[in-house]
Amino acid sequence: MRVLGIETTCDETAASVVERLPDGRGRILSNVVLSQTKKHAAYGGVVPEIASRAHVDALDSIIAQALKGANLGLDGIDGVAAAAGPGLIGGVIVGLTEAKAVAFAANKPFLAVNHLEAHALTARLTDGIDFPYLLLLVSGGHTQLLAVEGVGRYTRLGTTIDDAIGEAFDKVAKLLGLGYPGGPAVERKAKEGDPRRFAFPRPMVGRPEPNFSLAGLKTAVRIEAEKIAPVSERDVADLCAGFQAAVVDMVLDRSGLALQLFQRTYGRPSAFVVAGGVAANMAVRDGLLKLADEARIPLVAPPLELCGDNGAMIAWAGAERLALGMKDGLGFAPRARWPLDEAAALPGARA
Ligand code: KG4
Ligand code: ZN
Repeated sequence: MRVLGIETTCDETAASVVERLPDGRGRILSNVVLSQTKKHAAYGGVVPEIASRAHVDALDSIIAQALKGANLGLDGIDGVAAAAGPGLIGGVIVGLTEAKAVAFAANKPFLAVNHLEAHALTARLTDGIDFPYLLLLVSGGHTQLLAVEGVGRYTRLGTTIDDAIGEAFDKVAKLLGLGYPGGPAVERKAKEGDPRRFAFPRPMVGRPEPNFSLAGLKTAVRIEAEKIAPVSERDVADLCAGFQAAVVDMVLDRSGLALQLFQRTYGRPSAFVVAGGVAANMAVRDGLLKLADEARIPLVAPPLELCGDNGAMIAWAGAERLALGMKDGLGFAPRARWPLDEAAALPGARA
């Protein structure tokens, strides 16, 4: 079974063809990602209107490249999937509408995929792991700990009560003049810095629910930076190192707690999976590796190109759903917010 997947929820225009083999394993036949980073860099963040227009301009050609890369025409596809949310609504509308049109024209099943579900299921594509597993999803828009029980079955254990972790990296980068996207830039600077020079807070650490909070930490970085302004190269490196160390401590404390809670309900997870753009951060990865090792649970971190937003994860989530006989109607509405665990969604919390 081969599925075309389309991703346009943020600032990547992406399409991919993924094959699901009868034994449940997956194979990526093509994976085309066009990043709009340069278009947004001047603004220090993604500008929704610029993003939607760029998706409109690029999507046809990205889909054509994905099909070509897989050596297939639309007749060789068994389904068309698009991320229907959560995300920037303009971009979501572009990808979803295009996917519906392609599915309709080619007379193939259409699948409306939750972008978060796609991140959550990527580890089954790359590593073929079984349910249930614990997932830490950390990106520019999301920071969640989830029990992944099956396709379409997720229980949220924890979430951020304010900013997402990637968003905090981006804001710290902006405030220190490091440009956008901030995560990789902060990580690079942090390597040269002293994480002990500034005593930044470890928000939420020790709290009985595995939630996160980034707003206070971000403010603490700003206050320290203002105190010592104008900041030197050395100061910037130390501020980045201190910030990153605080984030890692928070992530490890919260993840350790989530692991305990998971085991109480489900027993041993098949894996501890980390996904989303922040999973590219080596300090975060190294910390999680130690945590998982101590718990004797395999850590599964998708390869870097599958950590950030991409079409393969959408295609794979579509394939998993299609294999279970699920499909969606062409009336499926785009969703700016779409929590994986609707029951646990906090009012106003980030989906
Ligand atoms: O998953 P993703 O590509 O897009 C969504 O937000 O859905 O994640 C992008 C986020 C950005 O906030 C970026 O700064 C962050 O992931 N990020 C990083 C690193 N690479 C990307 N954060 C920390 N360290 C990194 N190396
Ligand atoms: Zn994402």
